[in-house]
Amino acid sequence: MNILITGATGGIGQALVEVFYKNSWNILAVGRNKKILEELKLKYGDKIEIYSRDIGKEKEIIEFLEEIRGREIDLLINGAGIGEIGEFENISLIEEQRMIDINIQALLMLTKYFYKKMLERKEGGIINISSTAGFQVGGPLMCGYYATKAYVNSLTFGLIEESKGKNIKIMLLCPGPTATNFKGMKSEIEGAKKFYITTPKEVANQCYRDYILGKNLSIPGRVNRILYYLNKFIPWKIQLKNIEKIQRKKQIETLN
Ligand SMILES: NC(=O)c1ccc[n+]([C@@H]2O[C@H](COP(=O)([O-])OP(=O)(O)OC[C@H]3O[C@@H](n4cnc5c(N)ncnc54)[C@H](OP(=O)(O)O)[C@@H]3O)[C@@H](O)[C@H]2O)c1
Repeated sequence: MNILITGATGGIGQALVEVFYKNSWNILAVGRNKKILEELKLKYGDKIEIYSRDIGKEKEIIEFLEEIRGREIDLLINGAGIGEIGEFENISLIEEQRMIDINIQALLMLTKYFYKKMLERKEGGIINISSTAGFQVGGPLMCGYYATKAYVNSLTFGLIEESKGKNIKIMLLCPGPTATNFKGMKSEIEGAKKFYITTPKEVANQCYRDYILGKNLSIPGRVNRILYYLNKFIPWKIQLKNIEKIQRKKQIETLN
């Protein structure tokens, strides 16, 4: 079975590579960081093919798809994603557009390409990595990022329904705060944060389990699942205030 993972060089992506490798999948790993890709190659040998590509550039995606044309991909994981934290006026238009290019445009291009191929083959699966942020009405201090994840949620939920009866498994993976090098996060978890911050390994294991079980929505971490349900009962203005407080704290912590 072949799996294509974008964001394979990042915290969650690398953990996913490990889980799928252990379950005997052949991996096509995409990221930009050549050093990490080489390390993955050393570790997983023949079971992995590495592709250093900037999927924020449409041209590189088109060339990549041309290069792997004819390869059967049984599962696509759209994992690459970036975030920017700060007041809207302090995040440049270029940074906002880059988030859209990677979190939305690349995910859309790859999903459309492989979904159509999977329809022809009458089998396959796609996991889109969004975030619990995608369920919020908005994300003060991370306005653009939250908006990109709302897009991923909406697109994926739509596709979940459309794909019914077509033997294509679509799953939306929504991690909460996870210990990686993602903007605003740290790869080390200290003290009480262990209670609500998940590790990339926990996220990847839950993702694998839920996908194999045929679930359409995977939210790793008990606290995140509880918050997901509670959130439905919180008035939107209060949600925004809470998120603003959380992001402000994160912003201060990452500046220090
Ligand atoms: N960490 C969290 O708290 C958290 C919470 C919820 C959702 N998520 C989501 O989980 C996903 C993975 O994030 P992570 O936490 O693992 O972050 P990460 O450690 O920063 O990894 C991000 C990944 O995206 C790749 N990427 C970024 N820009 C790229 C580009 N232009 N071309 C190709 N690849 C690119 C990176 O590869 P290179 O640097 O090698 O290009 C890296 O593999 C993202 O979609 C993120 O939104 C994260």
